Amino acid sequence: MDGEQIQKLREHDENLRKMKCEELWRACQIPLLHRKFVEARTKVEKDRKEVLDTLIFALGTGFIYGIHADNDKGKTQVGAWLCRIACNRGKSAMYIRVADLFVGLHAAITNEHGSVLEKARADLCIPCLLVLDEFGKYKSDSTFAPQELENILDKRHTSNHDTLILTNLRLEPFRDRLGPGICSRIKDGGGFIHMDGPSFRGT
Ligand SMILES: Nc1ncnc2c1ncn2[C@@H]1O[C@H](COP(=O)(O)OP(=O)(O)OP(=O)(O)O)[C@@H](O)[C@H]1O
Ligand SMILES: [Mg+2]
Repeated sequence: MDGEQIQKLREHDENLRKMKCEELWRACQIPLLHRKFVEARTKVEKDRKEVLDTLIFALGTGFIYGIHADNDKGKTQVGAWLCRIACNRGKSAMYIRVADLFVGLHAAITNEHGSVLEKARADLCIPCLLVLDEFGKYKSDSTFAPQELENILDKRHTSNHDTLILTNLRLEPFRDRLGPGICSRIKDGGGFIHMDGPSFRGT
């Protein structure tokens, strides 16, 4: 094989790699608004960049990080950027609001076919990165869904899959709502990050 053919093969491999990254990115379910900012490569400015860098450094370690901040501080955007970076590395990622997760889990739990619950669990355990947004905004009526969430986070943590939890709650109510089981796993690998800086909306 001559140099030109080797070069062509390399280009072909690189194109396949890029296609896979794009496929993973499309499958993340990031809200359109936040996808747009990532795809436009809008600059991630200082306050968010520091947080993002911490998370990027920890990618692939099985972390559970909790980011707490007031409205409009760019939490969802950080989650979107992190998904993009995971996908660029060829890793699967998934974004979901906790309200939607509880509704899905509740439907699965009450379904008479056990396989539905198994699938719902697997869908949340398989992605290498899971971003859970708007934690604490919605309280589940049943205790099953929060219990399931704890089991899922435990499975993810022990399988070295990363989880990012975003909330508007202050630290203490956030920890109370997560419960001691999840908090101790956060201590084990990850942490709580308070995000500050100017608000985005209306600027
Ligand atoms: N890079 C950016 N450049 C300009 N505007 C941005 C950028 N990222 C986000 N925004 C705008 O700022 C808004 C707030 O960002 P984001 O939704 O990430 O904050 P948040 O902390 O998740 O807010 P909330 O608590 O309300 O969910 C976005 O809805 C979007 O309109
Ligand atoms: Mg948000």
